[in-house]
Order: sequence, then structure tokens, then C-alpha cells
Amino acid sequence: MTDSVFEGLNRPIAEMMETQRSIRRLTDRPVDHSIVRRCIELGLKAPTGSNGQNWEFIVVRDAEIKARFARQYRRAWPLYRRTIDSSTPSNARMLDAVQQQIDHFESIPVIVVACLAGGRPTGPYVAKSSYYGSIYPTVQNILLAARSLDLGASLITLPLWSARRSRRILGLPRSVRPACLIALGWPAGRYGPTTRRPVDDVIHLDRWRP
Ligand SMILES: Cc1cc2nc3c(=O)[nH]c(=O)nc-3n(C[C@H](O)[C@H](O)[C@H](O)COP(=O)(O)O)c2cc1C
Repeated sequence: MTDSVFEGLNRPIAEMMETQRSIRRLTDRPVDHSIVRRCIELGLKAPTGSNGQNWEFIVVRDAEIKARFARQYRRAWPLYRRTIDSSTPSNARMLDAVQQQIDHFESIPVIVVACLAGGRPTGPYVAKSSYYGSIYPTVQNILLAARSLDLGASLITLPLWSARRSRRILGLPRSVRPACLIALGWPAGRYGPTTRRPVDDVIHLDRWRP
């Protein structure tokens, strides 16, 4: 693997944030481990509650393991799909892309399962918030690193529908909780700008104003 593969990591961060989105349609071109490793390494620069650094990442390439997660995803998806309004064009496109990913789940080149080790999501509200809040900054860093490298990535949770089964699939000890999956592969489509709510609609100065 030459260093030039990593040059994308020097691209302007705002442009990468503007164009990072779920890329669910992937080719079956293999993804070198050094690329996955670098994305995770950059992910680790993110904050964690009390600087616990209590993440663990399982890098899955094994076909049988992917197939077992695919089974969970296929079980969960029809239940979840019903909650999404398919009448808007953007939702309809998203639902198609999800269905396509589910149909081809076993061919995803690499799946990174982001896990939290130790602790429990219990106790006061802030403890729960800090618990799961300790994985997603890392995950977003990984998504941005992937985007910079033009590597397709999507964050998914539904394949973890049963935490008990997910643990068994990966052989995780009870102290390790799978939080989400990041599917990685070279994109069949392209990255592009995302549509989001206007920023001034979501900012409240000093206190809540409806
Ligand atoms: C916590 C979380 C869980 C998600 N779970 C799934 C999932 O199970 N399957 C899926 O296809 N997308 C999942 N997504 C991706 C969102 O659907 C997606 O980010 C959103 O529709 C915006 O689209 P974009 O990423 O293309 O901008 C999840 C996102 C988050 C933050």
C-alpha cells in the first residue's frame, strides 16, 4: 500500500463534512486492512467520557459472520421500515438503498463493529448519555476519514437487533457491548452534498424558543 492512498486525508475538512453521507451501494473490490486501520486510528482521536477510551472494534471480513448479521438485519428491517414515510422522494431513495444493502449484505467488503467495553448504560441520565455518547464521536471520525479516502461507508444499527445474538456472533464477553456497525467498501455511486434542516431553525439563543 503506497502512501499516496492516504493523501485524501489532507482534503479540506469542511468539504468532507458537507459531503459525508451514507454510501450503501458498494463494489466488491477489496479494502486493504491498512486503510481500515488508519480510519480507526483517526477515529480514536475522538473524545470519550472521562477519557475512558473504552472502545473496541471488531473488523469483520468473514462471510459466515456477515451472513449472521444479515439475518438479524432482514428480521428487523420490515418492522423498522413501517415507521418511515416512503412518500417523499428522498425517503423512497433511502429505502431503496437500504433494501439494496440488505440484499447484498454478505458482499460488503468490511464491517467494523464498534463496541463499548466495561461500564453499563444505567444510572442517572448523564451516565447513560455519556455511555453511548462515548462511541459516536469516534464513529463519525471514522466516517469522515472514509469519506476523505473516497471509501464508501454507512453507519448501521439494525443488524444488532438482538444484543444477545450479536454478542454470540462475535464471541464478545458480557462486559463488551456492540453499539453499531460501519459498513465499508469502494462506492458504486458518488459522495455528494447532503440536505439538512436549515441551521437557523435549530439554534436557540440562551433558552428554548419554539
Ligand atoms: C444511530 C444511527 C443508527 C442508524 N442505523 C441505520 C441502520 O440500521 N440502517 C441504515 O441503513 N442506516 C442507518 N443509519 C443511517 C441514517 O439512516 C442516515 O445517516 C440518515 O438517513 C441520513 O442520511 P445520510 O447519512 O445519507 O446523510 C443510522 C444512523 C444513526 C445516526
